[in-house]
Amino acid sequence: MTSKKFLLSFLIGFILCLGIPVIQASSCKDSYVDRVCGEDQTNLWLDIVCVVDNSVGMTNAGLASVAASISSLFVDGQQLGIQPNNPRTTRIGIVTYNQEAQVVADLNNFTSVDELTNKVYSILNKVSTSQDSYLHSGLEAANDLLEQQSFNTARGHYQKLVIVYTSEYKGTGPQDPLPLAMRMKQTVSIATVAYGQDDILGFLAELTKIATPGYNFTNENGENTISELRSTMLQVNCYCPNGWFQMRQSYANENSFEYGVCLLPVTIQATWLASKFSCRNHWNKAYLVNEYTQTKHDYVLQVVRNNTAFKQPYTYFIGLSYVNGNWQWEQPDGMDPIVVQNWNDWNPGFPTASSTATVGVNVQTSPSSMSTGWQNTRKDLASMYVCEVASCDSTNYCTAEDI
Ligand SMILES: *[C@@H]1O[C@H](CO)[C@@H](O)[C@H](O)[C@H]1NC(C)=O
Ligand SMILES: *[C@@H]1O[C@H](CO)[C@@H](O)[C@H](O)[C@H]1NC(C)=O
Ligand SMILES: *[C@@H]1O[C@H](CO)[C@@H](O)[C@H](O)[C@H]1NC(C)=O
Repeated sequence: MTSKKFLLSFLIGFILCLGIPVIQASSCKDSYVDRVCGEDQTNLWLDIVCVVDNSVGMTNAGLASVAASISSLFVDGQQLGIQPNNPRTTRIGIVTYNQEAQVVADLNNFTSVDELTNKVYSILNKVSTSQDSYLHSGLEAANDLLEQQSFNTARGHYQKLVIVYTSEYKGTGPQDPLPLAMRMKQTVSIATVAYGQDDILGFLAELTKIATPGYNFTNENGENTISELRSTMLQVNCYCPNGWFQMRQSYANENSFEYGVCLLPVTIQATWLASKFSCRNHWNKAYLVNEYTQTKHDYVLQVVRNNTAFKQPYTYFIGLSYVNGNWQWEQPDGMDPIVVQNWNDWNPGFPTASSTATVGVNVQTSPSSMSTGWQNTRKDLASMYVCEVASCDSTNYCTAEDI
């Protein structure tokens, strides 16, 4: 290859990989970043219930705008309803409420985006005559609908999202929506969209308490609200199998950015090779954890520290091994390992030159510091370890058995 050609293919590789520097310029399979949640809107698999205030305060224009918002949640080609040959579908039901609630479309009514778009305007064409708006009734009806048609069904493992569209927040005592919302949020995500009010009497603050953190929106933003809801749907669809921990930007902040990475600390001692196969047995395509970045390394350590079976000094295998002159990271079964790139976390003096110490372990070297660093060690020694797998999300469907 001439140097000019080489430079060109390097640049193309560079651009294709979205600015992530790659060693093998022409291929992106080695992109060296922490996996983010799937962003394939077309293949979302969720159960959604829209809870729509239709009291007088909402106005007919407000309702029409809710109808527009609901039909805009979906993109061309997105599959609604239950499809025999494709598990990656979304179902959407609609509940209206004022003093009382009514299920106007259940989770099985809409089987295509066209059908939804055709019907939603007539379903939401006119406000009721009621001045009252009790969100509690709306949430309760949504919860019942999910209990009847989603939980404990073949779609039990699908994530559930309730989207509240409301112009008012009312209710004390048995009509207080907050305790119900808190209970629901243990198994369901709730997004709120505030309509047509200046922030009277702390309306937005009340709704924010109802919402899952970060999912509180207003209708002021128009197009923007739709993209916020779409990204909420992708985020809600992204979760980890039972017992696995989803990696976040910050361990301390539960509301920080979530990666499409699930971690499992395993508290049984095994050799590196046995750990590698054990990860695979825990979950299809799982593997010993890689640490491309400081953020990942720190998060893995926090997950380990949070597990009382791990004692100081912390010592746990990671997916690092020495093969053909390179230190490399484990990948899902069937994929080639990836050579360690820029960032590394070797403890001082490591790796040592050795024909037997060919696998990587994280070791805490000082009792005064809670940090760990990589060391090479012998394959025949046993240690606890950490497995990793991609999250279940729009690009990675998980069956009920997986979870
Ligand atoms: C939803 O389905 C039910 C039962 O099939 C039907 O009675 C109802 O009219 C449908 N509603 C809409 C809005 O299509
Ligand atoms: C959503 O909640 C955040 C954090 O509590 C708050 O700062 C923000 O103003 C809220 N946004 C709306 C639209 O209520
Ligand atoms: C930390 O440990 C507690 C108690 O075992 C557990 O409930 C929680 O989910 C753990 N969190 C993480 C992120 O490891």
